[in-house]
Amino acid sequence: MTTTSSNPRTVSDTDAFWLREAERLDWTKAPTSASDVSWDASDLHIRWFADGALNASVQCLDRHLETRGDKTAILWVGDEPGVAKAITYAEAHEEVCRMASVLKARGVTRGDRVILYMPMVPEAAYAMLACARLGAVHSVVFGGFSPEALASRIEDCGATAVVTADEGRRGGKAIVLKKNVDAALTRNDAGRAVHTVLTVKVTGGEAAMQAGRDVWWHEEKAEASSDCPAEAVDAEDPLFILYTSGSTGKPKGVLHTTGGYMVYASYTHEKVFDLKEDDVYWCAADVGWITGHSYIVYGPLANGATTLMYEGVPTWPDASRMWKIVEEHGVTLLYTAPTAIRALMREGDAPVEKHDRSSLRVLGSVGEPINPEAWRWYHDVVGEGRCTVVDTWWQTETGGILISPLPGDPMTKPGAATKPMPGIEPALVDADGKVLEGEAEGNLVLTRSWPGQMRTVWGDHERFVQTYFTTYPGTYFTGDGARRDADGDYWITGRVDDVLNISGHRMGTAEVESALVAHDAVAEAAVVGFPHDLKGQGLWCYVILRAGLEPSAEIEKALRDQVRTEIGPVATPDVIQIAPGLPKTRSGKIMRRILRKIAEGAPDQLGDTSTLAEPEVVDQLVEGAARHR
Ligand code: PRX
Repeated sequence: MTTTSSNPRTVSDTDAFWLREAERLDWTKAPTSASDVSWDASDLHIRWFADGALNASVQCLDRHLETRGDKTAILWVGDEPGVAKAITYAEAHEEVCRMASVLKARGVTRGDRVILYMPMVPEAAYAMLACARLGAVHSVVFGGFSPEALASRIEDCGATAVVTADEGRRGGKAIVLKKNVDAALTRNDAGRAVHTVLTVKVTGGEAAMQAGRDVWWHEEKAEASSDCPAEAVDAEDPLFILYTSGSTGKPKGVLHTTGGYMVYASYTHEKVFDLKEDDVYWCAADVGWITGHSYIVYGPLANGATTLMYEGVPTWPDASRMWKIVEEHGVTLLYTAPTAIRALMREGDAPVEKHDRSSLRVLGSVGEPINPEAWRWYHDVVGEGRCTVVDTWWQTETGGILISPLPGDPMTKPGAATKPMPGIEPALVDADGKVLEGEAEGNLVLTRSWPGQMRTVWGDHERFVQTYFTTYPGTYFTGDGARRDADGDYWITGRVDDVLNISGHRMGTAEVESALVAHDAVAEAAVVGFPHDLKGQGLWCYVILRAGLEPSAEIEKALRDQVRTEIGPVATPDVIQIAPGLPKTRSGKIMRRILRKIAEGAPDQLGDTSTLAEPEVVDQLVEGAARHR
């Protein structure tokens, strides 16, 4: 398949290019070949650097000890202003070795799955790297997910150990974690295989310890050996599983392997941020998301950088917190999400201008389309017009950044992700899969594999094949739409499937719908996204109650709580519209297009409604929606 020719970053021999990039790692056994890939649905496999062997924790720690032992690896900034801790590479190495020793002594071994349900404390990074050291596979579950959601992930990956904390701190509030783990482990079969819950004392809050299973990190650590040799694993050994939402069904376990992922995380982190030895780099994501994996932990530490890890939220105790951190710690590279930028922009320029930001050099954005207004504020006010803004497009599945401006590029296109990274080959296709050339708008696909690509859906390879490789055969389908302008620059327009992006958190409409229908009062539910000033998208839930039930504030609240219980606070609905019916075709298919337009407040753009089984439902929905605005 041909791609657009206007990409100045084109690489002619990609395998040779990636094999050269692989030299950025210290391999136990260097690979002799790059890709071994087939995207043919009948024989789909993706392997990179397959005859290489390495250990990810060695890339992040051991290999820096000689030259950077005393350099700060993790600069941890607490939720409470004034609390911070600098951890050197030597110290981080020792902590990780001790944690690996503890897990090993408890029976965790190569290939075992370990769930991490952690707040933003250094121990979260230690736990990831400790698993990697043993060749065990971690799966981090964001602390904002409920016990129910946690249980389904523990079960799905067959975890045998959990690392958690008594509680987390965020914006002055305590988040219960150990209690949620205990609840999760009593759900169905989730607790059956779990022999260990290693618990970090963070707040000193209440934590019930089950004898035999639950152990405290601070107690185990004192006894543990700081000598824990790293297991050299094959390049294609799994490094981690990270669950993410799709347009159908339960969240899927995205599997990333060791060699390719590490090369790609390190490569993109260095190039996109133009990393220098003395940089203080801050990615303000949570380790529960892919951004935290690739750009708080693996990328920066593989590159020997100082990575700032912040426990709290951008707006607490006030809107100047981020800029205060930038000033206090001399942050040079900042990476955050449009949703945070919009929230801070709303507070005006004064909280920003109060603090010296002259250290800043590159400003990154990730997770959702950045609206030009927010981009300009980030560039002009936060970066004083001096800094490069890199609007980085990628996905959990891609392991690292695929399309992004690079430092040195002219900053003239607010909201464009611009060009693919060298080695990356995107294309736009129309609904029939025809490749669009030149200036065009269409579905975004990749036509060639790259080392950071996910390898499979854990336990369900067929789902992997079906989700990404059958829509437009021979390509990887991203689920995103994009426009390419006359300069060959890409502008991501957002998802073209039923995946939502709420404050940069990815969510499937199907997941929220099944949470709602699990409630006794609900006969049917349909969930769509709608434009939301702060969150980018909000969750609009149309609900049909069971016969005999009347709409009430109590039911609305109960349904909101229901979604929070099933999924977690991240999925709290913005609107619950109790409706008399849903717009369906005569064959019974819900017409989501109509529901989206109604939620958007554009009832004049409903298009053709003549195929509806009950056209009068639409008027009732439009009328009902007006009451929620
Ligand atoms: O729709 C795209 C959006 O976020 C989706 C991926 O979400 P997730 O797997 O949670 O990963 C988020 C962090 C990489 C994409 O399919 N997205 C991500 N970055 C951008 C974006 N949309 C527009 N512009 C971006 N820079």
